[in-house]
Amino acid sequence: MTEPVAARPCAADVLARTRDLLDPALRRAVGTLPPSMRRVAGYHFGWWDARGRPAGGGGGPAGGAVGGAAVGKALRPAFTLLAAEGAGGEPPAALPAAVAVELVHNFSLIHDDVMDGDRVRRHRPTAWAVFGRAQAILAGDSLLALAFAVLATGTDGGPDGVPVLAGRVQSLLDGQSADLDFEERAEVGLEECVRMAEGKTAALFGCACALGASYGGATPSQSVLLEEFGERVGLAFQILDDLLGIWGDPAVTGKPVHSDLRNRKKSLPVVAALTSGTPAGAALAALYRRPLAEPDLARTARLVEEAGGRAWSLARVDGLLAEALESLRAAGLTPEATAGLEALARLAADRDH
Ligand code: IPE
Ligand code: MG
Ligand code: MG
Repeated sequence: MTEPVAARPCAADVLARTRDLLDPALRRAVGTLPPSMRRVAGYHFGWWDARGRPAGGGGGPAGGAVGGAAVGKALRPAFTLLAAEGAGGEPPAALPAAVAVELVHNFSLIHDDVMDGDRVRRHRPTAWAVFGRAQAILAGDSLLALAFAVLATGTDGGPDGVPVLAGRVQSLLDGQSADLDFEERAEVGLEECVRMAEGKTAALFGCACALGASYGGATPSQSVLLEEFGERVGLAFQILDDLLGIWGDPAVTGKPVHSDLRNRKKSLPVVAALTSGTPAGAALAALYRRPLAEPDLARTARLVEEAGGRAWSLARVDGLLAEALESLRAAGLTPEATAGLEALARLAADRDH
């Protein structure tokens, strides 16, 4: 006996469909902000150039994207909308949750670029590099407040996602705090590094899925399984992000190469290498003790690889993807949504940007 198999959707098609749903609601929400906040937010989202003109219209040095997409992938809200659908709901039921998750994510990126001192994201100068740190911080705050306002509109008579999202934002902040703290510490354990990544990234992915499930009418146990699925995908996503931060092609990632090494970040591949007990790991630890000069960065990346940091990361991504798919299947969503979520999970765990 053969089970019915849903056609394997391509992740790009899934994302195009969910983006069509998300975009008008996201733009409507950002449109309610005061003009000062809207200006920075719209620039960050890739909609406008630094002077507020539609992007892509040859808008000067800070406008448009060179050689890649200026807009994000909107992956997290896609998980939310599909989880809702898979639980039997209509995707619009989870739209406020999807918008809220995307707003929280972008709040965290705007602030993260200030914290990391990164001047390029999505192939363009970061919000703080264009508008200054103070304006970027305010715009990030504004998106965070907006996220909760939008989510609250969707809770009328339905599940209350506000405390769930609030809790995951605290996990994200705790993870970001550990990420910064680790820069100053010589010794970081691999397990505490995993906890850090779970906080800064996996928590919001898990939340995106759990909120979608509950707004779609999932049972509590389905929501738990979906949150587990999202957290595993999110951790795999962050490990890949860390790999791309060392070996990614800036023309594809839209982010500066070696920025994590320049900041002496204890990212997962680096900590896996530092704790490997190998000669290359010891050489890396010696290098990482002092500020790294530009010519040292390529050698640092080589030592991470030689010490097994890259191999550890790739193996962990594979393991997490397999575990994520187990949770997904156990949740028993509709076959179409399960196939769509699987495509998104595979994209998150196997991307080049
Ligand atoms: C990502 O931080 C996590 C959050 C923004 C909460 P990273 O600093 O690791 O990510 P990128 O590489 O700048 O996107
Ligand atoms: Mg960063
Ligand atoms: Mg960071």
